[in-house]
Amino acid sequence: MNFLGKSRSQTAAFLPLYLLLLKILQPGHSHLYSNRYAGDMVIQLIPNTEEKVDAVKNIYHQLKVDLWQPSSISCVSAGTVTDVHIPHNVSWNLLAFLQKANIQYKILIEDLQKILEEGSSLQPRRNRRSLSGYNYEIYHSLEEIQSWMRHMNKTHSSLIQMFSIGKSYEGRSLFVLKLGRRSQAYKRAVWIDCGIHAREWIGPAFCQWFVKEALLTHRSDPTMRKMLNHLYFYIMPVFNVDGYHFSWTHDRFWRKTRSRNSRFRCRGVDANRNWKVKWCDEGASMHPCDDTYCGPFPESEPEVKAVANFLRKHRKYIRAYLSFHAYAQMLLYPYSYKYATIPNFSCVESAAYKAVNALRSVYGVQYRYGPASSTLYVSSGSSMDWAYKNGIPYTFAFELRDTGHFGFLLPEMLIKPTCTETMLAVKNITMHLLKKCP
Ligand SMILES: *[C@@H]1O[C@H](CO)[C@@H](O)[C@H](O)[C@H]1NC(C)=O
Ligand SMILES: *[C@@H]1O[C@H](CO)[C@@H](O)[C@H](O)[C@H]1NC(C)=O
Ligand SMILES: *[C@@H]1O[C@H](CO)[C@@H](O)[C@H](O)[C@H]1NC(C)=O
Ligand SMILES: *[C@@H]1O[C@H](CO)[C@@H](O)[C@H](O)[C@H]1NC(C)=O
Ligand SMILES: [Zn+2]
Repeated sequence: MNFLGKSRSQTAAFLPLYLLLLKILQPGHSHLYSNRYAGDMVIQLIPNTEEKVDAVKNIYHQLKVDLWQPSSISCVSAGTVTDVHIPHNVSWNLLAFLQKANIQYKILIEDLQKILEEGSSLQPRRNRRSLSGYNYEIYHSLEEIQSWMRHMNKTHSSLIQMFSIGKSYEGRSLFVLKLGRRSQAYKRAVWIDCGIHAREWIGPAFCQWFVKEALLTHRSDPTMRKMLNHLYFYIMPVFNVDGYHFSWTHDRFWRKTRSRNSRFRCRGVDANRNWKVKWCDEGASMHPCDDTYCGPFPESEPEVKAVANFLRKHRKYIRAYLSFHAYAQMLLYPYSYKYATIPNFSCVESAAYKAVNALRSVYGVQYRYGPASSTLYVSSGSSMDWAYKNGIPYTFAFELRDTGHFGFLLPEMLIKPTCTETMLAVKNITMHLLKKCP
């Protein structure tokens, strides 16, 4: 037996006391964003004629609402769902307008502040944390996630290595975990990133879940054993570290990075529109105040540049690129930027088909799958398209739960089922690529 043989699985989920103290001492949820969402609503509607589409686009634009789905006004089209977060001071205007225009809507969330407070009151968070355990069923702040990574690096050094691939705009380290049995220096690899978009908190929760499951099950589960034997997994639990931090301290619905703009007061770039693949074309905005702002030039964001550099350097080995987003319940593959069929379509398509079936087998949750352009919407400059264009044959973007009921505020109670079913899909894709296809 080698020295890896200790009961790693028992220690996988434990963290030292200092982490707990850190948690108690830090200011928590910044008292829930100073009550800034009181009275805000989230509504869902489906404009079903071109006339209504135009009307809706117009009013969204005028009132500067925060669009949850799709991510930009230009992607609103007839027959597609739009979920929109309406600030309290314009909700009356918008609802009156919709009624007058005879556009039906459904209220998803009546008071956003109330939902936020219900979902994250600090007292139960503490109670649910055992003295030494790391709770994978709650959302964690950036500081907690980074401490957890350091702890994993220290206590599971035979399977995990933590390293930094660069610095964010605000100077935070961009940490990645390399996971896998160190049998050879070079093995085929899978890249997984979570949290490109700050407000999609279920993403980072999944990345942590994946690592936990790998450590807990690689002895007992032959599939996981095979995965860790034959592959390295590069896992980046929080891609957009600055944005994620900001979504904890200031604005729960922040999406972009936090870089400053020389000419506008608005900050941030959409880190999933900033890649050099049909950069800043359809589905991306040139305006710095928009949520889908593509940035001043490709890879302008240090986070994007760092990951692109890493992928370029390792592309010979990286067989799959998986990126985790929310929400829509979709499994997407290229292209995002155009309506066209990729070469090797049948391999990628069958991997996606099997993966969503595997996912559904757990709780019956349905995912749609297909090319991002025709399944979700057209968007240029995405990481998935870029990875594909750079020679990674299997590239996927997950849009995790749900389909708008809670939207970005997916309750912590749903972390476990969401991650459990998603694990099956990821394992399925991984096993698929270990086979020769085509
Ligand atoms: C609503 O509030 C925002 C932020 O306080 C403000 O910028 C905007 O002008 C207000 N809109 C209306 C219609 O009062
Ligand atoms: C991970 O652990 C190794 C030692 O096992 C150490 O050299 C390295 O600096 C650690 N990584 C980070 C980012 O702390
Ligand atoms: C992948 O999912 C399919 C069902 O969609 C299943 O038949 C197959 O056994 C799964 N493969 C693995 C390795 O989990
Ligand atoms: C398609 O598959 C073949 C055979 O596996 C491979 O050589 C080729 O690089 C793939 N093409 C793309 C674009 O992934
Ligand atoms: Zn996203």
